[in-house]
Amino acid sequence: MTVDHSIETPPRAPSPVHAFGTLAVHAGSPHDPVTGAVIESISLSTTYAQTSVGKPVGAYEYTRSSNPNRENFETAVASLEHARHALAFSSGSATTATILQSLASGSHVISISDVYGGTHRYFTKVAAAHGVHVTFSPNIELDVAELIRPDETKLIWIETPSNPTLSLVDIRAVATIAHRHGILVVVDNTFLSPYVQNPLDHGADIVVHSVTKYINGHSDVLMGACAYNSDELHTKLSFLQNAIGAVPSAFDCWLAHRGLKTLHLRAREASKNGLAIAKALELSPNVIAVNYPGLPSSKYHKIALKQHRDGLGGGMLSFRIRGGQAAAEQFCQATRIFTLAESLGGVESLVEVPGSMTHAGIPKEQREAAGVFDDLVRISCGIEDEVDLRKDVLQALEKAVVGPKITNGLENGSSQ
Ligand SMILES: Cc1ncc(COP(=O)(O)O)c(C=O)c1O
Repeated sequence: MTVDHSIETPPRAPSPVHAFGTLAVHAGSPHDPVTGAVIESISLSTTYAQTSVGKPVGAYEYTRSSNPNRENFETAVASLEHARHALAFSSGSATTATILQSLASGSHVISISDVYGGTHRYFTKVAAAHGVHVTFSPNIELDVAELIRPDETKLIWIETPSNPTLSLVDIRAVATIAHRHGILVVVDNTFLSPYVQNPLDHGADIVVHSVTKYINGHSDVLMGACAYNSDELHTKLSFLQNAIGAVPSAFDCWLAHRGLKTLHLRAREASKNGLAIAKALELSPNVIAVNYPGLPSSKYHKIALKQHRDGLGGGMLSFRIRGGQAAAEQFCQATRIFTLAESLGGVESLVEVPGSMTHAGIPKEQREAAGVFDDLVRISCGIEDEVDLRKDVLQALEKAVVGPKITNGLENGSSQ
């Protein structure tokens, strides 16, 4: 007697009618048709057998061109960003580089001024070398029309929120002007993740992520991705993905895909913590100003209500501390739960001083014009308990600004 081990695969692909959490868990996650495994295996093979010349057994030939783990991850990202296509890369920076590489020499790009430092570095030091020139604007909604060079401007690059000042850009306002001239709009959505914001729904043509941050969410993968609807763009960018070869490993795709499945839970929790910390900081006499678009007092709150899911502010915020750079540095060393480290978007809370760390490469004058003062502290809220994070921030503020309290000759404040 023969036993039929084949397992019928029911149609499991979630459709766009499903809500975010359902898509996060199921998009790009088919059961293994041979074993029935619910979780995909990691396809480490770099090459795939062919039955005759040019006839691979399945859909794959060579892992740089395509790989099951990468393809599944790309399907999931496309689904969460309401896009027809997505591509994964070995880092957020490789994603940016590949998009810029798609422009012909002589092309002009308009970017917000306070773009991520690595993106600024690529625009000014690498893109320029292949004949692509970038104009930076501190006020893109107002300036974009007059910065457009007919026939030369091909791309507008937005980060909303920006890093580290959390300024927002009205995507629809910029896209409306750009599209009149046939210009594509790219939005780097790293700071919010697709749970909080879907830029394509607001008129953007390409959405970009450093997957290293919220999408993976566990500070253990370096990866990037972009998503879009145009088939023409897909032909161009997937050609470059293979030709340039800045692709992620199968293992990293698998890990990032696992992280993505809990994005909605993590992003909600990080946003809740972000709002609680922002409110506590706003009330503190030791704080000069708080940048957080989820605060009703923020000048960007109206845009947040329009562009972000439920008006959420996300897990990122920054604030100016009283006492200058010394206080900012002391604050980062005085926190007990927040780790002093670069990066963001992981389950653990992080803190840093952009002026001396992530943004130290930008000349001081330029930095300060964009609001990045020496006393600015950037916080990435993780998913720890709100009560512990708030207490930690308040005790660190006391230590950094007020200094250790001397009571009966003894230093106070060593226990929380
Ligand atoms: C907003 C933003 N975009 C892009 C990048 C680059 O991503 P990666 O570090 O994955 O290359 C970063 C990295 O910090 C970022 O914060």
